Amino acid sequence: MRSSMLLALWVLGALGVSPSPDPEVDPPTEKSIPCSKGCTCHNDHYSSELNVYCSARNLTLIPADVPPSTHSLWLDGNLFTSLPAASFKDLSNLDFLNLQSGQLSVIDAQAFRGLRSLAHLHLERNRLRSLPTAVFQTTLALASLNLHNNQLMRIEEKLFAKLSSLWLLNLGWNSLAVLPEAAFQDLQGLRELVLAGNRLAYLQPQLFQGLTELRELDLTGNCLKVIKANVFLKLPKLQKLYLAQNQIVTVAPRAFVGMKSLRWLDLTNNRLNELHDETFLGLHSLHVLRLSNNSITNLRPRTFRDLQYLEELRLSHNRIRALGERIFEGLGHLEVLELEHNQIQEARMGTFLGLSHVAVINLSGSCFQNLPDQVFKGLSKLHSLHLDRSCLSRVSTQAFVGLTGLRRLFLQHNNISVVERQSFIDLQGLQQLDLRFNKLESMSSHTFYGLKNLDYLLLSGNLLQNLPPESLLPLKRLSWLDLSGNKLESLQNDTLQLLPRLRYLNLKDNAFSSLPSEMPESLDQLWLTGNLWRCDCSAQSLRDYSLSKPQVVPRQVETLMEGEEPHTVVSIFNNITCNSPPNVAGTDLRDISHEHFHNC
Ligand SMILES: *[C@@H]1O[C@H](CO)[C@@H](O)[C@H](O)[C@H]1NC(C)=O
Ligand SMILES: *[C@@H]1O[C@H](CO)[C@@H](O)[C@H](O)[C@H]1NC(C)=O
Ligand SMILES: *[C@@H]1O[C@H](CO)[C@@H](O)[C@H](O)[C@H]1NC(C)=O
Ligand SMILES: *[C@@H]1O[C@H](CO)[C@@H](O)[C@H](O)[C@H]1NC(C)=O
Ligand SMILES: *[C@@H]1O[C@H](CO)[C@@H](O)[C@H](O)[C@H]1NC(C)=O
Ligand SMILES: *[C@@H]1O[C@H](CO)[C@@H](O)[C@H](O)[C@H]1NC(C)=O
Repeated sequence: MRSSMLLALWVLGALGVSPSPDPEVDPPTEKSIPCSKGCTCHNDHYSSELNVYCSARNLTLIPADVPPSTHSLWLDGNLFTSLPAASFKDLSNLDFLNLQSGQLSVIDAQAFRGLRSLAHLHLERNRLRSLPTAVFQTTLALASLNLHNNQLMRIEEKLFAKLSSLWLLNLGWNSLAVLPEAAFQDLQGLRELVLAGNRLAYLQPQLFQGLTELRELDLTGNCLKVIKANVFLKLPKLQKLYLAQNQIVTVAPRAFVGMKSLRWLDLTNNRLNELHDETFLGLHSLHVLRLSNNSITNLRPRTFRDLQYLEELRLSHNRIRALGERIFEGLGHLEVLELEHNQIQEARMGTFLGLSHVAVINLSGSCFQNLPDQVFKGLSKLHSLHLDRSCLSRVSTQAFVGLTGLRRLFLQHNNISVVERQSFIDLQGLQQLDLRFNKLESMSSHTFYGLKNLDYLLLSGNLLQNLPPESLLPLKRLSWLDLSGNKLESLQNDTLQLLPRLRYLNLKDNAFSSLPSEMPESLDQLWLTGNLWRCDCSAQSLRDYSLSKPQVVPRQVETLMEGEEPHTVVSIFNNITCNSPPNVAGTDLRDISHEHFHNC
């Protein structure tokens, strides 16, 4: 798909025109150019080649008066249902013929007779169910042939015979269930073959033999169940192999052996439950390996050993239960390791050994019984670690040892009630720490020790009852502090003064009755709703502050609801509702009159 799009764009680029010329805005036809009646003609500025546009003209017949010198002819989006013999017989100069998005269901075997120069033929998005065997035998100069999105049920064995100049063949999104074993045998020049979106259940051993120039093979979305060892032999230049969305249960050991150039292998959304030690043998150029959404239960130590240039390994949505030692050994170039949504209960100290370049590890959505000490040691390039929704109940002192490059640590939605002293001490580069929705009841003065670059600290949805000022002392660069949804009743007077860069402070839904009298100058958002404000003299400074800074303490903010289509606007209130004394209970602090405070 991608390359055919590119091809189309390249062709368009070369022609210097837009894809579906609108009759109203077409440049006026120059008088001197001969043109087919009802069409628009245009001489290319650079090559002075003649382009004829008859797109979407409701034509029911191929125009008979197209000038013989025509170089490209656009007939897409018309109403003819068949192409009779010799439909283009005088167009021996034609290079590009676009017949896509029409109603074609019948093409005569001689329809393209005379198109000696034709290189690019678009027949996609029609209603073709079959093609006569000889139909392309009069257009042997074809370089790209697009037949995708038709209803082809079968391909004749000789349909592509002698098309040795063809480099793109797109047969995607048809109804092909079987291909003749020799269908592609003459296509020595083929670089891209798209067979995605068909019903292929079986690939014959001979099918791709001889395609020595092939760079990209797309078999996404078929019904393949088994990948045998002899199917992809002799594809030495293949770079991308797409096998996603099939029903593949088994990949034979050594199935990809000899694919020296393979950079991209996609097996997402299949039914693999096991990877053999030799499944990926010899893939020394592989950069991307996608195995997400399968049923893999186990990873063996030497499975990935040849993949020394792998940069991305996706194993999310599988059923992996344990991560043994050295399973990723050899992946010294790996940057992204996705393991989210597995059933991992156990990892070992040496699990991630050797991943010296890994930048992102996603382990969210598993259920660890515990995380061994020093399990991430040596991963000095790691910058994001996702451990959210992982059943963790404590963070131990040694858990994150060695993660000196870590910038983002996701620990939200666990069961963490204990963070041991100095657990984060190595994380001097950490910018974002997400501890939302855990079971934290208290912070000690050593909890955040070492986090001198922390910018975002998210603690909402815990059980915090107090926040000792010393605990925030290391956080000199903190700008965002979310404490909403805890059980805090107060903050000590100097707590916030320890955070000279604080811009955002969320105290919603706690049990606050009062706040320190001074707010940091740097603050530009303060959320206070859902607390138990005591609106006596102690609240006077908060009242003055919120009235003088309505931007910092807005009463209400309109925002777009995330993910909703169409977007709905919701109001977020920031009420400072008084809980006491009784005479003002229920009133917003900002609405209480000045006189109320005249005795203070
Ligand atoms: C083609 O036919 C449709 C339906 O009759 C009409 O709406 C449209 O304007 C026609 N287009 C041209 C270019 O004549
Ligand atoms: C994998 O499956 C999950 C759940 O069924 C789905 O949400 C996700 O989009 C799938 N991922 C891919 C890459 O297909
Ligand atoms: C990691 O997984 C979480 C949860 O599934 C997801 O939200 C996040 O985007 C993933 N991160 C990456 C880098 O893929
Ligand atoms: C959290 O811990 C409690 C008991 O401490 C347990 O019942 C619950 O299942 C745990 N939840 C998760 C998501 O691990
Ligand atoms: C905080 O400061 C105010 C005024 O400066 C004072 O009245 C109050 O007692 C102090 N509170 C605490 C807990 O130190
Ligand atoms: C906040 O105040 C507005 C009126 O200003 C009211 O409509 C809304 O229900 C209040 N919300 C809460 C949570 O008290």
